[in-house]
This record gives sequence, C-alpha cells and structure tokens, in this order.
Amino acid sequence: MCGIVGYVGTKNATTIILNGLQRLEYRGYDSAGIAVINNNEIAIRRDVGKLNNLRARIESSPIHGTVGIGHTRWATHGAPAEHNAHPHVSMNGEFVVVHNGIVENYLELREELMAEGVTFASETDTEVIVQLIERVAHTGISDDIAEIVRLAVSRLKGAHAIVVMSKAQPDRIVTVRIGNAGGVAIGLGNHEMYVASDIPAILEYTRHMVFLESKQMAVIWADDYQVYNLDGVPITPEIHTIPWDPVSAVKGEYKHFMQKEIAEQARSITDTIGGRIDFEHYQVLLPELNLTPEKAQAINRIVTVACGTSYYSGLVGKFFIEKIARINVEVDYGSEYRYRDPIIDENTAVLAITQSGETVDTLAALEEAREKHAIVWSIVNAIGSQAMRISDGYITMNAGPEIGVASTKAFTASIVDQYLLAVYLGQLRGTINETERIQLVKDLGKLPNLVSQALDQEDYIKQMAGDLYHYTDFLYLGRGINYPIALEGALKLKEISYIHAEGYPAGEMKHGPIALIDENMPVLAIVLKDDLYDKMISQVEQAKARGGIVVAIATEGDTFIQTKADYVLYIPECPSFLSPIVSVIPLQLLAYHIAVWRGADVDQPRNLAKSVTVE
Ligand code: AGP
Repeated sequence: MCGIVGYVGTKNATTIILNGLQRLEYRGYDSAGIAVINNNEIAIRRDVGKLNNLRARIESSPIHGTVGIGHTRWATHGAPAEHNAHPHVSMNGEFVVVHNGIVENYLELREELMAEGVTFASETDTEVIVQLIERVAHTGISDDIAEIVRLAVSRLKGAHAIVVMSKAQPDRIVTVRIGNAGGVAIGLGNHEMYVASDIPAILEYTRHMVFLESKQMAVIWADDYQVYNLDGVPITPEIHTIPWDPVSAVKGEYKHFMQKEIAEQARSITDTIGGRIDFEHYQVLLPELNLTPEKAQAINRIVTVACGTSYYSGLVGKFFIEKIARINVEVDYGSEYRYRDPIIDENTAVLAITQSGETVDTLAALEEAREKHAIVWSIVNAIGSQAMRISDGYITMNAGPEIGVASTKAFTASIVDQYLLAVYLGQLRGTINETERIQLVKDLGKLPNLVSQALDQEDYIKQMAGDLYHYTDFLYLGRGINYPIALEGALKLKEISYIHAEGYPAGEMKHGPIALIDENMPVLAIVLKDDLYDKMISQVEQAKARGGIVVAIATEGDTFIQTKADYVLYIPECPSFLSPIVSVIPLQLLAYHIAVWRGADVDQPRNLAKSVTVE
C-alpha cells in the first residue's frame, strides 16, 4: 500500500512532505520520492529503499519550494528502482504525478501513447497517467490543470488515488479518487493545505480534514480548495475534526508501534466505550447507527463481513448479538461474500468490520449489500474512510491511529463495539430486561481494568517467548466464544514472526489435527474457568500425552492447570462475554515477543500492508 503526501502553502514543502511520509512508513514500501515546484520549475528527488536514502539524496542535492508532492511506493508494475519510484514527470516536463492503485489498462494506453511518439522513462503503470495528462494538455482543449486531469483520468480503468502538479499552474495541486485504492484526505490549514493517503501523515499539522469519495477530485490552493465530481460539478464535502491526538501516532518509549498499541488497550477500550453509555440509566447510546426501534425489530438477520483479524472479531461478536439481541448472525470473509450471490433483503443488516475502512474486499462486500438494499453498517477506526461514508450507520472504534501492521487495539475495540451493538439492539428490540441490561453495562465498565491486569505479565511472557521462539509450528486451541481468539492468536504469530501457526476449535482435534502434535509442537490452549473448562482440560491432557508443549491461558486462581500445562498465562476472572477481549492480550504479547526474539520487522512484516486495497 503506497503513501502519498502533498503540501501547498508558504513553508518549506520538502520538510513537511518528508515528515508526512515518515508517518506513513508503517504502510510498507520499497522506494520513495518527492517533487517540488520552484521558480516554475519541477525538481524531483527519488531513491530506492527506506526514507533515509531519500533524505540523504536531498541533503546532498537540496530542493526547495512551497508546493510539493511525495510518495512511498510498494512496487506492483516495475521493480523497486529509482527510475520506477514516484513522482513521475511527463515527457516534456510539464506535469508530475504520484499515484496509489493500478492502471488496469496501462499496456493499451502505453502502446497508444508510444504510437504518438511518447517516450517512457519507467516500467510503471503510473507513468501512463502523467503522459496522458500532458497529451490532453497539448490538444489545447483547456489550459486549466483541473479540466485537463479530469479528461485524462476518464481513460483510466482500475482504482486510483492520484495527485498532480503542473509547471504552468504552480500555485495548486489537483487530486483524484476513483474506486478504493486507499483514501485521499485534504488537510485544512491556515494559508496552507495538505493532501495525504492517510490521516497520520498530516495530523500534526491539522485536525480538520475532508475526504474524497470515489469519482471525486479536488483543486487545492494555499488558501482554498474545491471538490468536484468527475463530471466537473462542484461538491461541498463534510469537514471532519479528527479526535486523535498527534502524539498517539508516534512510538514514544516503545520499541515498536505494535508494543505500544498492545499496551494502550486499557486506554483505547475506555475511549471506545466513552460517550456511549448513559450510566444514569445504564443504557447504550449509538446515535450514529440511525436506527429506530421499528427498524431494529424488523431486522431478521445480520451478516458480518470482514477480513483477517477483523473477521475473527466478527466471529466473537456473533455470540453477543445472537444471545443478547436474538438475531441470527452469519460471519463471512469480505473476499468471499460478493461471489456467493448472497440472499439479502431489506430486513438484512450487513455489518462491515474494518479498521482502515479501505479494505477493498470488505468494501466490495458492502457495495454488494447496498445494491441488494440491505441495511449497511460499518465498524471502523479510520474517520472519514470509505466504509464509514457509504454506510447507513456506523460505530467508530475510537482506538486512535493503529500504525503496526498487526492489528491489536483495533481488534479489541471492534469487539467492544459489537458488544455495544448487541446491547443497543437488545434495548430496541426488548430482548433483554432492565436487570440484564444493567448487568451487561456494568460488566463492560470493568473491562479496562481487566485488560490492564492482563497486560501486567509482559515480563514473564517475554522470558517465556525466549523458550519458544525457535519452534517452527504452533497450534492454538479454543472453544466457544474463545475459539476465534485461537484463530487470532495464530494469525498474530504468523504475520509478525513468520512461524506457521494454526487456530482450531479444540473439539476438532480428534478429527485429524491431533496427529500433528509431538514434542516439536507448542500448543496454546485457552482454558478458562467456564462451562467448557473440563473439556479443555481433557484437550490439554491429550496434547501432553503426545509430548506436546502446552501453554495454557487460564483464569487467575486456577492452580489445577499448573499440574497439566508447561506454562500458564493467567488472566483475571471476567464475565464470559468479555473473556475473548482479555484472553487475547497474552496471545498478542506472546506473538510480539517471539517476533522480537526472532529479530523480525514487527511493525512492517514482509509482504504485508496495513490496509489491503488491492484484490
Ligand atoms: C491483522 O493483524 C492483519 N493486519 C489483517 O488481517 C487485517 O486485519 C485485515 O487486512 C483487515 O484489515 P481492516 O480491518 O483494515 O479491514
């Protein structure tokens, strides 16, 4: 997933853009570049590898200007190389472009342009955009960069986020969003404006932002901006005030963003709950859902669509919503849902869970649901994201920016949001009485402290990870509401330490997977003092009988488990519905410390992106 930063104002664009790109490093990239306009000339500096290489190149050959654009590239078409890095300049040097997305018809366009004498300097799909723009300009149809860009992008297929500058009009930037190739945020400053593919890049400069929707474009000057649709019709978008504090977008005293974000969860869960409980009447308040009691009572099915960790969060939420609101819940992968020709009617609610709000598979599932007239909700962390904007109602995670690629605080926040949703639906549908509702709300009030207690054992987990990090295969077992936590624990380990790990419903072991267990297979078992305890103890005994190394996630005070497991990670006793949020904490910490022991690039794991905006 590439990163984009642009600036137009009175300050040194180079510094602002490099700082912004630094804030987007978590997205992963393999080259970077920046272009500024000075004395009506376009100056470009690009390099492969990390931003420090680009900084060094700029230090040895400075560029200055008050209008500029920058980019961190994740190579798709064309190897990671200086000449393939963005920005790309047109053949006659009149325009310069940075781009997120894929020009699906770039070969056809490249051939067409080459037949007209255009010479290309790179192997990228992006370069056809800037050459198209210059060709439209040379037709003389308009001398306005916005109109030229609007006509040029009409030829593109695929999803795009594009930012353009022109030598002829050096006082402005033009940006375009088509489809879901990552967002375009416009930051509103005082005699200066910003554009970025993600909020953290510009949050230290402004909290006031507008977000382009698909098939929208904007012209940005130092003192103004104007949004249009791609027919050239002016639009007045909502101005969002981002509540996150800029500090939360930096690591502070932590070694990695992931470590910081795990540690923040008592705080982030407090923020997720904040403002949504009327503690006088012990009621849940979710006005952003725009839901009336009548509509709530008419809903007969909820389909949760999500990917990766967010999908596992949906598996947990199914338990709350079915038990409390008495609505059937299906949970489906975003990447599968839209190919199933799903059965949907106006009484179906489709709920997307997506931290970034930009995951292309999840967005596609939402579009499918909208086309079939379902009620569309989303649980999102990124304010102003596409999922949030196309939904009939939403619940924000309020977890603050999650920078580490491995999702942690957004995962627990999204489960809390589903708990709130379950109680809210129960209130509106009358499926819970006052006593039950008060208890559920009081239980939720205890959660931050329970999470804080679970976080206290990081030192022991760090030492334990030192015993386990050299194994190459792990098995995670859970039952009931903690089965999805076994899946999530396995994913956390896989994605940051590159160790093979599988999550399984513990009851399934006897149907095959138990053949895997031997002395080389650590087994993580979630064995809480609940109604499945005895069954899980039996599972632990079977694993031990085959020489497996057992790490148990257990309830404080349970000493019996110590006679069965090799390692025990305790969590405080907690209400069953909240146990997944507490039991995942030691698994997050274990995955993190095993990855650190292995010297892995924890915040930017190989081959992964924070937001998957390509199919
Ligand atoms: C989780 O640790 C992974 N980074 C990944 O599975 C992620 O949850 C998935 O890509 C969905 O992202 P989203 O929540 O932004 O839609």
